[in-house]
Amino acid sequence: MSLSRMLAESDGSISKKKPEQPHNRRKTDREEPQEEQTKPEISPIESFSDKIRLKLVEKVGDAMSDSSLDESEAAQSDLRIKVTAELNNLISSDNIPLDDDERKRIIGEVTNDVLGYGPLEALLDDPSVSEIMVNGPDSIYVERNGKLTLTDIRMRSESQLRQIIDKIVSSIGRRVDESSPLVDARLADGSRVNAVIPPLAVDGSTLTIRKFSKDGLTAFDLLEKGAFTAEALKFLQAATKGRLNTIVSGGTGTGKTTFLNCLSSFIQDGDRIVTIEDAVELQLKQHHVIRLECRTANIEGKGAIGTRELVKNSLRMRPDRIIVGECRGAEALDMLQAMNTGHEGSLTTLHANTPRDALSRIETMVLMTGFDLPTRAIKEQMASAVDLICQLTRLRNGRRVVSHITEVTGMEGEKLALNDIFTLNYDMLDANGDPTLQPSGIVPSVAEKISHHGGHVDGQWFVPTVEGL
Ligand SMILES: Nc1ncnc2c1ncn2[C@@H]1O[C@H](COP(=O)(O)OP(=O)(O)OP(=O)(O)O)[C@@H](O)[C@H]1O
Ligand SMILES: [Mg+2]
Repeated sequence: MSLSRMLAESDGSISKKKPEQPHNRRKTDREEPQEEQTKPEISPIESFSDKIRLKLVEKVGDAMSDSSLDESEAAQSDLRIKVTAELNNLISSDNIPLDDDERKRIIGEVTNDVLGYGPLEALLDDPSVSEIMVNGPDSIYVERNGKLTLTDIRMRSESQLRQIIDKIVSSIGRRVDESSPLVDARLADGSRVNAVIPPLAVDGSTLTIRKFSKDGLTAFDLLEKGAFTAEALKFLQAATKGRLNTIVSGGTGTGKTTFLNCLSSFIQDGDRIVTIEDAVELQLKQHHVIRLECRTANIEGKGAIGTRELVKNSLRMRPDRIIVGECRGAEALDMLQAMNTGHEGSLTTLHANTPRDALSRIETMVLMTGFDLPTRAIKEQMASAVDLICQLTRLRNGRRVVSHITEVTGMEGEKLALNDIFTLNYDMLDANGDPTLQPSGIVPSVAEKISHHGGHVDGQWFVPTVEGL
């Protein structure tokens, strides 16, 4: 008889029924936490695996929390072997009959729990998953091929989820608790993590992990995935080599950082590049790169160093180009000034839905500096600083594509003058029924600047095609 049947038949008390709870009832501050009441039913296997987990911690707990243990793959694999062997011993000594699948499952779960990130391990190991979104212990979504789906993976409880969050956050010397309930962190492999815990996250802690792709998507991968056409790619390559100041604009998760990384790959070796990011994501291959990363405040709330300070500082580092991972605030003004003062070919991203919105966002961000600058002066700065805006979007089927490559040609009265070089054409569909990126048919004004910096522009790139991609 298998363990689950044996325990289920011998001791019905193991299963805890979830008590009836009124819907949408919010906890008041005075109420005690009702952990017991919200616990899902515990199966005999889960209860046995809890027992084994505790015994394991007693046996090899010291080895697992040994701070001198190095993070190398070899050391981690040694520890995993030790833990697996110990688990096998513990299970055997318990004299409880387990079939092979149950034994494997318990060993897998307990090992993942104590050495890794519990139920998330399977998703972290799955290469088809690009993002993991945990919305409380009972709801875990993943993104695969641009599409979000709900998984059937669950955490045992809110407290297991909190333990996983603590583990991630403490590994980089940060902490998350009532006084700092929002935290950005990173996994050892570079994956970007954000966690929010109650009371800010009303329905349980949330964890968002943007998985780091080791090889990163190259410009040619994006071309293959149909994010843009070969002609657009040739133009983008020439534009980057030709030192156009470029803004990559798009909604959240549209692929801005990936696209920025691809543009950066076209920068000629020899340029001194300073990159500034909230959390390092860019993977530049050039030799002469200085990477700067923002710092969050310490436990006393002091010592934060933001993008703006790093941009200002970078100007004293004699960079040829400055790449800012994302412009969110007052750093936009420093970035415009940098673009206007000899750091041509600088690149950044920002959140906006159209190229014109991107410019309005910059204007708003500049106003956030608190300087009382007239709108016209800001617009003039933008007109001379920004050459190109690449707008990204996600189609309904989840595909991430370039929707506009637009140049800023100057001012027309009080307005900034924009000229679309390539746009998505919804009347010209490809074999999948998706819109195609089409050139406008006009050689852009920025071609002159590109040629001036030694780049080459071919008029053929801008001739509209008939059959699309
Ligand atoms: N053209 C593409 N085709 C398929 N997948 C893509 C494409 N561009 C980016 N991705 C994938 O989409 C995910 C989000 O990409 P990325 O981090 O670049 O987005 P983002 O716009 O910078 O997001 P955020 O707004 O959160 O900073 C990543 O997993 C990335 O590998
Ligand atoms: Mg990004």
